[in-house]
Amino acid sequence: MIEFKNVSKAFGDRQILKGVSLTVDAGKVLFVIGKSGAGKSVLTKHVVGLVRPDSGAVLFDGVDVSSWTEEQFYPLRKRCTMVLQHSTLFDSMTIVENVALPIRKHRQLGWNAALETATSYLNDVGMAEYAKRMPDTLGDGLRKRIAIARALALQPQCVIFDEPTTGLDPQSAIQVDGLIRSLADRFSVTCIVVSHDLRSIFSIADRVVMLYQGQVLLDGPADVFRRSEHPVVKQFMSGVPDGPMEL
Ligand SMILES: Nc1ncnc2c1ncn2[C@@H]1O[C@H](COP(=O)(O)OP(=O)(O)OP(=O)(O)O)[C@@H](O)[C@H]1O
Ligand SMILES: [Mg+2]
Repeated sequence: MIEFKNVSKAFGDRQILKGVSLTVDAGKVLFVIGKSGAGKSVLTKHVVGLVRPDSGAVLFDGVDVSSWTEEQFYPLRKRCTMVLQHSTLFDSMTIVENVALPIRKHRQLGWNAALETATSYLNDVGMAEYAKRMPDTLGDGLRKRIAIARALALQPQCVIFDEPTTGLDPQSAIQVDGLIRSLADRFSVTCIVVSHDLRSIFSIADRVVMLYQGQVLLDGPADVFRRSEHPVVKQFMSGVPDGPMEL
């Protein structure tokens, strides 16, 4: 569904990506891992045109989008939405209104129809009972689930999650993981997850790609990572600070 072909990207004299090639399969959960600064966020931003490659190509359903104009990306950003680490909700609106807002904007529905649709999305993420609450009365885990419901309201084919479980308590993290898994399984949504969370990787990833020094160091199911003898992969998997990879 999404393909990176030999993508390189530098900022100033810092080469962040050095010929990254990978394919993201439709309806699967792909994790992108690597140390801080490895270029994980930069890589995923290429998909929706927030970053453009210096060379190489990014294909979306077989179409090379790397030289598209900003306007050409607008419809694609509805098909592929991003859930950022610090997802912002409007504090002066209820939960259901927060979810209804993009529905009204992007799906040309009246406000009542948008609220009704929003309620069904809240139901999908197990949040219907919070519909009338204000965002600041909820904890981070619940806010994250609402941000996910809001992303789903655009009926995307693909959702990019940047560090979805970072900063969440373990119970909330498990719920967010379950939600991501069910997006792929129940709705065939392609999920790209940037994460450091080993528990998430082993519980929900179909495939994992590790970026290191601007390139793909290893690409395969989580088990391949668990068994890898590569010193950098081993260090990452054990989460220890000392080793060949500077953390
Ligand atoms: N727009 C930009 N302009 C200049 N430098 C940038 C820009 N975006 C990212 N960078 C740099 O590119 C490098 C990779 O950034 P990126 O955000 O992709 O890292 P990451 O792997 O997501 O790390 P983290 O785990 O900390 O989020 C960093 O050194 C960052 O400072
Ligand atoms: Mg990042």
